[in-house]
Amino acid sequence: MSKKPVKATKKEVETTGHSWDGIEEFNNPLPRWWLWTFYVCIAWAVAYSVAYPAWPLINGATPGLLGASTRADVAAELKRYADANGPIQAKLVAADLTQISADPELAGFSANAGKAVFNTWCAQCHGSGAAGNKGFPNLLDNDWLWGGDIEAIHTTITHGVRNTTDEDARFSQMPAFGKDELLEPAQIEQVVQYVRQISGQEADADLATEGAVVFADNCAACHAEDGTGDRAQGAPNLTDAIWLYGGDVATLTETVTNARFGVMPNWNERLTEADIRAVATYVHGLGGGE
Ligand code: HEC
Ligand code: HEC
Repeated sequence: MSKKPVKATKKEVETTGHSWDGIEEFNNPLPRWWLWTFYVCIAWAVAYSVAYPAWPLINGATPGLLGASTRADVAAELKRYADANGPIQAKLVAADLTQISADPELAGFSANAGKAVFNTWCAQCHGSGAAGNKGFPNLLDNDWLWGGDIEAIHTTITHGVRNTTDEDARFSQMPAFGKDELLEPAQIEQVVQYVRQISGQEADADLATEGAVVFADNCAACHAEDGTGDRAQGAPNLTDAIWLYGGDVATLTETVTNARFGVMPNWNERLTEADIRAVATYVHGLGGGE
């Protein structure tokens, strides 16, 4: 193999004069446009880091001469909305609960504001369309655990259900008939068939007849003699086919054996009275309000 001399492809390009093992280095300057772009970028970076928050410090960053802060912008924006809504919120809080939906201005505001509150705070449990989930009631129907007029809904939302943070929370507790051995397994089987019967489902007639007695002795105090429930105790109506937990034999057996303990937080600590009224009006207006 013979060594060929390295030749410059363009004769006019100078070399740096360095040569190693016969290899020379071209002296190609950077294109002028590139160089200027580079200088402009450096100048921009210096100016930017002086004008805007840039250099990280232990707690935060250098503030920058312009005092720019996106956080402050958001706060100002929120304050602007709050100020704009202030008068109507004050009117909403002052209004009689039952009159809100009759006042077009308050009703319109509540529909929008209430929907926003609902989507932020309530949809996780009650579903984005408010149709509920197992253990989380459907708020669209007219089947209410604790009451469906605006005042009852307002109270439920304000204080919540079975929480430990508000002593005015709605409270009741169904006994765990199986776990605490209040009923024999056979009696549970009977009463489950009875519940199936009164809810219009397929049931074993003989077991259901026995179950009626068990029901009258153990369940009627809360769910009423005829099984239609008691809102004062949040005891569901068992005769409609609307289930909070489920109406199949396995779920009913589980409910009667271990009981349930549905908890809803109280909202009076997290939401303003205006927001609670707006969302109560919104829920009331979803279709099942009384
Ligand atoms: C952490 C879950 C959770 C969140 C969040 C939640 N709820 Fe509830 N809510 C429940 C549960 C569980 C019940 C049923 C309690 C029971 O079994 O009695 C309930 C019951 C209700 C009821 C009573 C329904 C009836 O039939 O009487 C209303 C009204 C209600 N919620 C509205 C709201 C509103 C409005 C919000 C948002 C501000 C909200 N909930 C947020 C869990 C939740
Ligand atoms: C002290 C009152 C009380 C007694 C007694 C009681 N219940 Fe309940 N029951 C409730 C309450 C309150 C709930 C709702 C629990 C919840 O949402 O956490 C409930 C829920 C239920 C449910 C769930 C309904 C659904 O929609 O999924 C069934 C079924 C039921 N009870 C059946 C019975 C039967 C059967 C008995 C008698 C053996 C009985 N209960 C006795 C208070 C009671």
